[in-house]
Amino acid sequence: MSKYQLIATAAMGLEAIVAKEVRALGYECEVDNGRINFRGDELAIVRSNLWLRTADRIKLVVGEFKATAFDELFERTKALPWEQFLPENAEFPVSGKSVKSKLFSVSDCQAIVKKAIVERLRKHYKKTTWFEENGPLFKIEVSLLKDKALLTIDCSGAGLHRRGYRIGQGEAPIKETLAAALILLTNWTPDRPFVDPFCGSGTLPIEAALIGQNIAPGFNREFISENWGWITAEHWNEGRMEAEDLARYDQPIDIAGTDLDHRMVKIASENAIEAGFADLLTFKQMQVKDFTTTKEYGVIVGNPPYGERLGDKAAVEKMYHEMGQAFAPYDTWSVYMLTANENFEACYGKPATKKRKLFNGFIKTDYYQYWGKRPPKNKDEGINKRLKE
Ligand SMILES: C[S@@+](CC[C@H](N)C(=O)[O-])C[C@H]1O[C@@H](n2cnc3c(N)ncnc32)[C@H](O)[C@@H]1O
Repeated sequence: MSKYQLIATAAMGLEAIVAKEVRALGYECEVDNGRINFRGDELAIVRSNLWLRTADRIKLVVGEFKATAFDELFERTKALPWEQFLPENAEFPVSGKSVKSKLFSVSDCQAIVKKAIVERLRKHYKKTTWFEENGPLFKIEVSLLKDKALLTIDCSGAGLHRRGYRIGQGEAPIKETLAAALILLTNWTPDRPFVDPFCGSGTLPIEAALIGQNIAPGFNREFISENWGWITAEHWNEGRMEAEDLARYDQPIDIAGTDLDHRMVKIASENAIEAGFADLLTFKQMQVKDFTTTKEYGVIVGNPPYGERLGDKAAVEKMYHEMGQAFAPYDTWSVYMLTANENFEACYGKPATKKRKLFNGFIKTDYYQYWGKRPPKNKDEGINKRLKE
């Protein structure tokens, strides 16, 4: 169970949510800046790749040590058991980064780590010639932070946000991992209506559907560690069968996305089909100011334009005001908006119940939360509640 030291990397501000997800998978963990540390076996690597909705990627820690000189980096890297992970034909490029460390030349650090691993493997595999590196790919990273070297192997390959369903996108699509985090931060449960009035390519509605039906976000993609051999096809089959068993495809959901731009509505519908939700999600062209509903206790989550481009600000702020007026009659609905516009609350017309600072890529944003009336008791049960336990 506790064979390997693993890291789920997280975008700044999302660490606590990723940690909650890791614990919900059954693994104890510790939270650090940008990383969640946990231990697990091969199945833990499979499960975390398949299930973590808000993590960026999964990495395996080969070693972590202090290094202030190149020979120290070389010797300590060589002392690590690389042969446990890398077969004789492994292809193993080394990337690097260095922050606040004496060893600041990243290219030198990469070359030294590569040389140390080659030497270690040469001795182990009794090799006198060069390694051909024509086998499975192991992406190694040497990351120096305050003179501490962390040596990892990437277990994910493409970042975990690449779920595989986004075949089309608009101008400013939100990352799937951030979209999932925004939803997990709400009080939404799959028995309540969900609306994204700025749906763009449909990321939030699709992520909500995946959460609502408990579908593993990585179910329809491949991972680099599938080719390694020591995580066997049986491990992957077990993880995928477990995910198939846990999915609740028969869970009814009421999820809609609307957008001013009819081209986005078409793209969102195509992405939803790709994600396997052809008839389950509703997309239509509509301006947010025209929002009306007869339903109760719904949840609205949106990533509206921020009005950052010159000349856009006034129009966007007017739109925020119209949005506040359109939503005002629905006091059982909760509203969650992510924006970098600091006038949001004033434009919307009331102060948020709660605000949370988040980064959308490199843009500093706030997640404005307006909590609606509490639903009758039985509506409060559900996936988010389970995550909180
Ligand atoms: C930042 S994008 C949303 C991106 C989306 N979350 C995604 O992942 O693709 C903002 C969206 O709001 C839409 N929009 C702008 N003004 C609007 C309005 N007044 N009513 C409805 N949608 C609007 C734009 O067409 C755009 O698709």
